[in-house]
Amino acid sequence: MRSIAIDGPAGAGKSTLARKLAKELGYLYVDTGAIYRTVALKVLRENADPSDPAQVIPLLEGLEIRMDYGSDGVQRMYLAGEDVSEAIREHRVSGFASRVSAIPEVRSFLLDFQRRLARSHNIVMDGRDIGTVVLPDADVKIFLTAAPEARARRRLLELEQRGEQAGFAAILQDIKERDYQDEHRSVAPLQQAADAVLLDTTELNLAQSMDRLLYLVKERISL
Ligand code: DC
Repeated sequence: MRSIAIDGPAGAGKSTLARKLAKELGYLYVDTGAIYRTVALKVLRENADPSDPAQVIPLLEGLEIRMDYGSDGVQRMYLAGEDVSEAIREHRVSGFASRVSAIPEVRSFLLDFQRRLARSHNIVMDGRDIGTVVLPDADVKIFLTAAPEARARRRLLELEQRGEQAGFAAILQDIKERDYQDEHRSVAPLQQAADAVLLDTTELNLAQSMDRLLYLVKERISL
């Protein structure tokens, strides 16, 4: 099985590019952020403090998370049988996800889930620690990033398209906070794997980023 790991900070375009890449190659696309978001939604709904392991860890027991792909090929997430694919995209879930994902027990709980997918499929998997922890032997590792301002602009557009209201300054602040949390947690922090290729999309539009990504992948694996 082949695997392509794409890591990077929030809003760098990982999911859009990873999804397109997977489609182009005929691989399965796995958005691991969505899995953390599903845990976060559970924590939110239980009114638990996402930063408090003593409140979060007991919720993992009996947590029923499932993932499948709709007829459109889009990954859908289920929490106790309920399709939460839209609910996990809400703005407040992002902050919760960043906090619960700093808890080591949450990460180890989800590790197997992610690795199993890679054992049975050719995949493009995106997240924060795919190249460093989840799939250290991935065939290609990409670290996708962009300046915080560029990422905030893209996030704003995305939220607006979904009909959510938010200001640029608040989004930028939020992105910087999430970067800090994701980069400074003690377990599996966001960092570029030593053998990952850096792709900075600050000055690139979507089509240019995709061209570059495909080039980097094709350079490394014969398709
Ligand atoms: O990519 P995203 O914004 O949907 O991810 C939501 C949060 O989940 C993010 O702040 C960090 C966490 N996450 C993680 O810790 N490890 C991953 N592999 C993917 C996401």
